[in-house]
Amino acid sequence: MPFTLLKMIDKIKEYIGEAEHFQTDNKEQLEAFRIKFLSKKGILNELFAYFKTVPNDQKKEFGQAINTLKSAIETKVKTIQEEIESKNVQGLYGDLTRPGYPTSIGSRHPISLVKNQIVDIFNSIGFTISEGPEIEDDWHNFSALNFPDYHPARDMQDSFFVQSNPQHLLRTHTSSVQARYMEDHKPPLRTISPGRVFRNEDISSRSHCIFHQVEGLYIDKDVSFADLKQTLLYFTKEMFGKSKIRLRPSYFPFTEPSAEVDIYWGLKTEVDYRITKGTGWLEIMGCGMVDPNVLTNCNIDANEYSGFAFGMGIERIAMLLYQISDIRMFYENDVRFLEQFKSNF
Ligand code: PHE
Repeated sequence: MPFTLLKMIDKIKEYIGEAEHFQTDNKEQLEAFRIKFLSKKGILNELFAYFKTVPNDQKKEFGQAINTLKSAIETKVKTIQEEIESKNVQGLYGDLTRPGYPTSIGSRHPISLVKNQIVDIFNSIGFTISEGPEIEDDWHNFSALNFPDYHPARDMQDSFFVQSNPQHLLRTHTSSVQARYMEDHKPPLRTISPGRVFRNEDISSRSHCIFHQVEGLYIDKDVSFADLKQTLLYFTKEMFGKSKIRLRPSYFPFTEPSAEVDIYWGLKTEVDYRITKGTGWLEIMGCGMVDPNVLTNCNIDANEYSGFAFGMGIERIAMLLYQISDIRMFYENDVRFLEQFKSNF
């Protein structure tokens, strides 16, 4: 074997030794090592180029030496790369077997809790859920619901009108959804509409300009006031565990006759005295038989069908159930307040 070739093989063996002993935990050093041997202008390519000039009878020995070097380098680069990566992971995340930190999953808002409870009760007796827009037109919020033009509820004091188009306003009650529902569906109808409503009222511990309502509507042949009373009685039993209600005559433009519903809360504790003002009775909603004018306005034959409607404020019920004394608490998103409802999730 010519002298230069012998020297070359020795050199390759030296490189193999170098590769086997190479060690680092530094990415840059590893990269330099890789470039030195494996890059385009690296040692291995040079050796392969030289290989072409080697006489045929010595190609085997020379070729084997280069291949051994090549796989020694490749294995080395791969192993060190893996070592460095696993160290990085440890550095970033620490001990991967350590138990995780507990994450707080939050809780449902009391308004949602109460709304869901109400919705569940009515769902269980066949009421569907319907929704409508919060920015409503005069027709669905007032006119269709038999509000005479001069009715004080249309007064600027009560409603937020859209400045550029006073025919539109933020709905003042979810009865607007019922007007829409009657227009779009054929009786028999059984639906409840939960939602946010807006009234231009001073904000205090008892009232707010934004609050929530759930309204119910039932239209069919021969629906009577007795059906209304039984439905509400069922609801109050399920919701409050109270089985005594009374209906006091009242007025709403869209129902005739109309009534306020009181439940008998009792007078067992001092709190009972306070919240019922010493009477034991508590007003929880408005209701009545849907006025035939409303049915006609919404394309339902008032001679064939009758029905009842009711509506209640969710905040009022939540304040009652959770003994919350200031309505503003619902909208301030103070975590200390909200966290108290965790167990009800
Ligand atoms: N819409 C009435 C309100 O906002 C409540 C109500 C609904 C009364 C349905 C009777 C029937 O106060």
